Amino acid sequence: MNILEIIAKKRDKKELSKEEIEYFVQGYTKGEITDYQAAALVMAIYLNQMTGREITNLTLAMAYSGDVLDLSEIGQQIVDKHSTGGVGDKVSLILLPTVSSLGVKIAKMSGRGLGFTGGTVDKLESIPGYQTNLPIQTFIQNVKEIGISMIGQTLNLAPADKKLYALRDTISCTDSIPLIASSIMSKKIASGAQNIVLDVTYGSGAFMKTKEEANKLAKTMQEIGELAGKNVTCILTSMEQPLGKAVGNTLEVIETIRALNGQIEPDVEQVILLLGSHMLKMGGLGDNLEENKEKIKDAIKSGKAFQKFIQMVEKQGGDISYLLHPEKFEKAKYITPVLAEKEGKIQKLHALSIAEIACSLGAGRTRKEDKIDPAVGIVLEKKIGDKVKKQDTLGYLYANREITQQEKEKFLNSYVI
Ligand code: URA
Repeated sequence: MNILEIIAKKRDKKELSKEEIEYFVQGYTKGEITDYQAAALVMAIYLNQMTGREITNLTLAMAYSGDVLDLSEIGQQIVDKHSTGGVGDKVSLILLPTVSSLGVKIAKMSGRGLGFTGGTVDKLESIPGYQTNLPIQTFIQNVKEIGISMIGQTLNLAPADKKLYALRDTISCTDSIPLIASSIMSKKIASGAQNIVLDVTYGSGAFMKTKEEANKLAKTMQEIGELAGKNVTCILTSMEQPLGKAVGNTLEVIETIRALNGQIEPDVEQVILLLGSHMLKMGGLGDNLEENKEKIKDAIKSGKAFQKFIQMVEKQGGDISYLLHPEKFEKAKYITPVLAEKEGKIQKLHALSIAEIACSLGAGRTRKEDKIDPAVGIVLEKKIGDKVKKQDTLGYLYANREITQQEKEKFLNSYVI
């Protein structure tokens, strides 16, 4: 077997065998297949798609490219959650401590930002001291002791996905159903949870632009899950506009703290209730979804959810004084309001262009080695459905340099009033 024949086969729209897929995944993980060969094959997959059989084989080859965790010692209530990505998506930060405070066991490994979407690991790392690279034994021990741990993808879990995920980002191959489905499901299989809730996003701020595409992605992941013997629930959620108000790492942590103290944005709350009610059900903590939603509201209202977040951050070395006094977080040097130039009702707020501005300010990466600036980003004051008057503040751009006229205009043009 050789990689040139495999690339040519996919280029010519033929189905790859299990052995060929395994040869590629193992060779690339070991560094025997180069980045440019892998890029060629990934682009061929992007253009020519994959059959169900190929997607399953790719998923399993990536899942078993490194260690596969066994979390059975933690028990049945363990439920994993993953999102296909979004803009201003701080759902994991709010949801996981909340359901953990109600008894669901959370052993969560998250990723960094990919393309224009943010990543939970980058957000957690904006809390001074917070360790995202704990040894696996400490990770499992933390879940046993306090019911929750949130870390990054460690070296040995699905290393093939780690390499491919970063590569896809640099060659415009992020928004592909076979590649997203295999990426997510390989990590979920390797990270050992039996029950998985998947938040499949659609809209301008998601990889899937339409609900139909999101549905296809959801079905693909569900099928892989069934073949791998996992319980998978997919929930489709809209990412037409950014979720909540903040886009950017520290800014989203501050929004999380406010949400866990009861000041939760309505669109964020909707997603938390929806996903959370299914997580409680999967964790064996109640079959009635409406009752589960009430339990989640109570956990936030009573402060139980925030206490769990504090406990987790402390356990992972984070300085909890920042959670108790969010004004301590380092602020961006320039906070520039952008004012509406006309009055009316907001019809659209393009999530993708908001994400692109946040990225250009330094909140995301354009190359995998880029460093993120945790303090920068955007806070939206107006969202779809809001009425605005001329000179009302639409939002604030947080930057550590002066904002360009082009960025200001792009922000204004993100709104359709
Ligand atoms: N999240 C992932 O883990 N992988 C993708 O490919 C996209 C979103």
